[in-house]
Amino acid sequence: MCGIVGYTGFQDAYDVVINGLRRLEYRGYDSAGIVLDKKDNSFEVEKTKGKVDDLVAISHHLKNTAHVGMGHTRWATHGVPSDRNSHPHLSNDGKIALVHNGIIENYDTIKTMLKEKGFTFKSETDTEVLVNLIQYFMDTTTDIDFPTAVRFALNEVYGAYAITVMHEDHPGVLVVGRLGSPLAIGLGENEYFIASDASPFVEFTKEAIYLEEGHMATISLQNGVDIRTIKDNSKIEPAVQQLKLSLEQIEKGGYEHFMLKEIFEQPKSIHDTLRGRLLVEEGIIKMAGIWDHLEKFTNAQKITIIACGTSWHAGLIGEYLIEEFARIPVEVEYASEFRYRNPIINEKDVVIAISQSGETADTMAALKLAKERGAFIYGICNVVDSSISRITDAGSYTHAGPEIGVASTKAFTAQLTILALIALKLGKHNGNLGNAEFMSLISELNAIPKKIEEVLATTHDLIKEMAKDFTNTHNFLYLGRGYNYPAALEGALKLKEISYIHAEGYPAAEMKHGPIALIDENMPIVIIAPKRGHYDKIVSNVQEIKARKGKVIAVVNKGDVQVAEMADYVIEIPDTSECFSPIVASVPLQLLAYYIAVYRGANVDQPRNLAKSVTVE
Ligand code: AGP
Ligand code: GLU
Repeated sequence: MCGIVGYTGFQDAYDVVINGLRRLEYRGYDSAGIVLDKKDNSFEVEKTKGKVDDLVAISHHLKNTAHVGMGHTRWATHGVPSDRNSHPHLSNDGKIALVHNGIIENYDTIKTMLKEKGFTFKSETDTEVLVNLIQYFMDTTTDIDFPTAVRFALNEVYGAYAITVMHEDHPGVLVVGRLGSPLAIGLGENEYFIASDASPFVEFTKEAIYLEEGHMATISLQNGVDIRTIKDNSKIEPAVQQLKLSLEQIEKGGYEHFMLKEIFEQPKSIHDTLRGRLLVEEGIIKMAGIWDHLEKFTNAQKITIIACGTSWHAGLIGEYLIEEFARIPVEVEYASEFRYRNPIINEKDVVIAISQSGETADTMAALKLAKERGAFIYGICNVVDSSISRITDAGSYTHAGPEIGVASTKAFTAQLTILALIALKLGKHNGNLGNAEFMSLISELNAIPKKIEEVLATTHDLIKEMAKDFTNTHNFLYLGRGYNYPAALEGALKLKEISYIHAEGYPAAEMKHGPIALIDENMPIVIIAPKRGHYDKIVSNVQEIKARKGKVIAVVNKGDVQVAEMADYVIEIPDTSECFSPIVASVPLQLLAYYIAVYRGANVDQPRNLAKSVTVE
């Protein structure tokens, strides 16, 4: 998520930081800020909700005032996007400035402790806690130096971070640290750069150090780069790398398109969705939004899920999950249909809205209607403080990070992850899900990021090759049963959105009620056939397709024999609980759609006629 830029050297720090932030804009953000250590040795901070251009509008007077500084583009996780919540944050004594990407999970406990010690807070962010914790260590530890205070503070926090810190009494020194969020240090001649990726400094130097997990560095012109472990201050020899990437490639993290980058981000994004919510060892699902309103859900006469497109597909899987584990009736509605058909909805209902952007006009209008009728409204959104997240009564952010590609990928799997958490939490609470099953399901859910990593590593090259055979295909069918029926719908949507090939998804058993008429040797049929869940029935469906010479692309579990033997193309995925299988199975389908579209020369990230936020009816 978001961006950090830091600089110490001989150039105008304002220009380097602002231009660097522009290079990181592709990552998506909602606010921007800068702090400079001016030539008279005082800090000056400017920050604002909005874009880098908005920041420039209020900060251009800082041009040519400093050779040291840092900037930030924020993608809000704690506290709405606002001037106050934007970074940099200053410590209470005004001497320490900090920018942060990521989430400090235990910020609440530390905030309470610091408040007791007399600290005050200006923002709602988790970040401001960290900068004051550093001040606390500076104030209370004898003979402590600045980097040690940062190190002490980092040892107290858990979560994910990339941080850069400056201290007014230590001019020209930048202290950085990383756990879970990336940070690179650019080594110039008589200048150093810091950035979330190399794009802000690639025009100045090709030499970089990528800070490793759990490491911190103190950077100054006098002493160079001193890298230490955060845990025990052991010295680390820097591994300097030669940057080979072009600017364009770097902006997409080395991937050809944002969509591919986002597909590959899924192990991390799902991990981020689960972070701080799924405590496997303690056997707890901690979700404030649900926790505070458990009775609303468990006493609901029904839950209605409202969404559009990919988010609607996630909703269908949510229906299966909630009905299976919590035994609460669920209906899933297209937002656009719901609002125009005088639905039966009242104060005994819970309505869940799912939306990546949180701005979809149809979903927004449907929610307003449900709200008017007195239903309790819960939101599952990716974009913090989006319109939908603001009108809901409670909700959970998916924390998938900014999704730039128009075709939703990592936001979809994050939505499924949240829905799984909700279903398991409700089932456990209302007693429909026994403890042993709950424990085994949460540990399986926790393993999903690793399984997706495996899928990406083992299927990518195969799918890239296989996709070449479908460049000139005109139609596709996608079939699945149970939990994987909505995954088939989503696979088909992905393909049609970006490749412009006509594709339909069906429950596999529905094939014989119509679509089977389409099958001949020119029709590829993607069939999702994991071992768990109606496998024998799927075997029969594959036989029916092969009898009509259809081309079968089968997504099966590793080691599958029966379906694999009949299929023309086999994609193997690891085994998981049936209810989580659509999360894993969706990944190869995203890759298939992606490569077919690439070979057809389509604009994958911005497909024709589509928009990322559909803010019109
Ligand atoms: C997803 O690939 C599509 N671009 C589209 O169907 C999307 O899911 C739909 O417009 C809903 O968007 P939302 O999740 O932002 O509300
Ligand atoms: N958690 C921090 C905040 O909400 C940092 C978010 C980011 O990565 O930009 O301010």
